[in-house]
Amino acid sequence: MPIKISRIVNGLQPSATLAMSAKAKDLKAVGKTVYDLSVGEPDFKTPIHICAAATAAMQAGHTHYTIASGLPELKKAIVESYKKLYGIEYAPSQVVIANGAKHALHNSLTATLDPGDEVLIPAPYWVSYAELVKLTGAVPIIVQTEESNDFKITPEQLAAVITPQTRMFLLCSPSNPTGSLYSPEELEALAKIIVKNDLIVLSDEIYDQLFYSGSKFASFPTLLPNLQERVILINGVSKTYAMTGWRVGWSISPLKVAKKIGELQSQETSNPCSISQYAAIEALTGDQTCVAEMRAEFEKRRNYVQYRLSEIPDITFPQMGGAFYAFFNIKSYLGRKYNGVKIDTSEQWCLELLTQKNVATVMGSSFGAEGYIRASFAANNTILENAFDRIRDFLTQSTS
Ligand SMILES: Cc1ncc(COP(=O)(O)O)c(C=O)c1O
Repeated sequence: MPIKISRIVNGLQPSATLAMSAKAKDLKAVGKTVYDLSVGEPDFKTPIHICAAATAAMQAGHTHYTIASGLPELKKAIVESYKKLYGIEYAPSQVVIANGAKHALHNSLTATLDPGDEVLIPAPYWVSYAELVKLTGAVPIIVQTEESNDFKITPEQLAAVITPQTRMFLLCSPSNPTGSLYSPEELEALAKIIVKNDLIVLSDEIYDQLFYSGSKFASFPTLLPNLQERVILINGVSKTYAMTGWRVGWSISPLKVAKKIGELQSQETSNPCSISQYAAIEALTGDQTCVAEMRAEFEKRRNYVQYRLSEIPDITFPQMGGAFYAFFNIKSYLGRKYNGVKIDTSEQWCLELLTQKNVATVMGSSFGAEGYIRASFAANNTILENAFDRIRDFLTQSTS
């Protein structure tokens, strides 16, 4: 009998960002120079003192299982870092270390949702949210936001979609894919609706260290008294310390929830890699100069990309307050011909840009926003310069 795929897994969409980056890698493998703006990972090397801590951990024999929910020293380093950065107090037992923030999200959703629960996800959204919600049997409710409001959900929009089945609001600020960042005041207005309607919030703060001049980041639980009771925080070392491959992320939640997330993980994957956890301790407790340096470099690139996009007629984009993505509107360029090929969708646009100009980006449709393109600026200056020359030519040479 052929092996049957489960209904839930059959309904999943594969990650579009990983699919575009795989296509770019295929072209590179046949010798093409590809300017890759599809990937959402810092292009910097993991700082050397963090790598040295991993080597030291291996040599000291820290190569065995740890407690399933993670090393107590790492949990302590995490709560101390939240206290220092945001003045917010957690107990180490509220932290569960996972195999990356994506895994922390999956664990948190699995531990708190039942089939039929509704989860509100503002669009454009990060590709994995809706799919991870679906895996639990809960229902993602996509709430469209407007470019004119920098793709931020308003309190009115949030209040309007709450039903008796609504259980959770999923927030990502700074945002992947839009790069927009909610102000503390905007978040507080949302928090009031959350409390009034007795909802919980999954706040993905993986880009909390990547925000730029003129913007201010606020961690969601700090906005109102007692908000910690209804918020699960998600974060990790991937973006802040250029550690995507090490696979260390975490959730911080009320103790009762954290205990269940830890139990779930003990049956699922056991502990995250012991060596990576030691490296993460060094990342959080060691010299933080690398964080400031990487942020400064990202800010230069953000300014450059903003300038390049603003030079192209009829291209618009929201304010780029944080993370490392430009999310630009190509609607007035759809329906046109590019080197004889008529392009009607953002997906076709990305595929033709890759084929004709060897630049990899990701279509807005995969983030719930047709007519937009996501370009990551976690790429060096040569790649950015070449990619935006080609994007400009591709757009401006198209014909009606
Ligand atoms: C918004 C958001 N959350 C979570 C993640 C996952 O991070 P990690 O690599 O730690 O699993 C990403 C990675 O792209 C992301 O952009």
